[in-house]
Amino acid sequence: MNEVQLHAENVRQSAARITAALGGLQPKIAVILGSGLGGLAARVEGAVTLAYKDLPGFPVLTVAGHAGQLIIGQLNSVPVIVLNGRKHFYETHDAYPLKTLIRAVHAVGVETLFLSNAAGSLRPHIKVSELMLITDHINFLGLNPLVGPNDDTFGPRFFPVADAWDKDLRAQVKVVAQQQGVTLHEGVYVAFRGPSFETPAEIRMAQGWGGDAVGMSSVPDCLIARHCGMKVVGISCLTNMGAGLSDEILTHAHTLENAAKGAGAFERLVLASLPVLGR
Ligand code: HPA
Repeated sequence: MNEVQLHAENVRQSAARITAALGGLQPKIAVILGSGLGGLAARVEGAVTLAYKDLPGFPVLTVAGHAGQLIIGQLNSVPVIVLNGRKHFYETHDAYPLKTLIRAVHAVGVETLFLSNAAGSLRPHIKVSELMLITDHINFLGLNPLVGPNDDTFGPRFFPVADAWDKDLRAQVKVVAQQQGVTLHEGVYVAFRGPSFETPAEIRMAQGWGGDAVGMSSVPDCLIARHCGMKVVGISCLTNMGAGLSDEILTHAHTLENAAKGAGAFERLVLASLPVLGR
């Protein structure tokens, strides 16, 4: 089997295992939980949990705060698949594990992907522990997960991303945020590859490009999902000011600590959004 065939086989087998675990539930939405935002996983009602390691081709995770579990059940009475943990491009050059995860979820009937991440703020008015709805992104990873042989059964070789972050879903989440009294900024997410945080010069560059937040995730997920025709909506939890914009020294522990402070509002917003988005 070549790499394309092996990947397709992994997607097929993982989808079959997920379908078996669904037990008739038909989730139309999947939520990927970012660093420090895993709390929603524990709130899934009637949870059936599959470990990524038991799903062929799924990511094998290495980072603290990323659990590596696919959880099936209901959140706020909406059938969902919650993906607790993902692989980042600072861990690997290999996009196949992330492709397998997203394409398998799509293969079982999920149409919408709700992404979340921890990010650094590039704007003084977007404060630590607040949330930002992603309106667009800049892919500065130096990598696109769709590079390589294209399997047309998943999606086309070339595809537009002018509408990567779905306008209608964003409008719905904004209404829910207002109803819930959750402060929700909007802005452009700039993806750096990491694993180092940025330099102050890189942060100034990202500001100059029109970025509002910087992070190391979600853009590959978005691209893979859009390639296979899923809709995408995403929220960043700002865990720090970008390097040089404050005196704080950036660490992963710091990211997790401040994500925990924003997690309450994040969970409230996701829970209240699901019945609207899942319609
Ligand atoms: N930069 C990149 N990724 C991040 C940051 C940051 O400042 N904060 C949380 N994730």
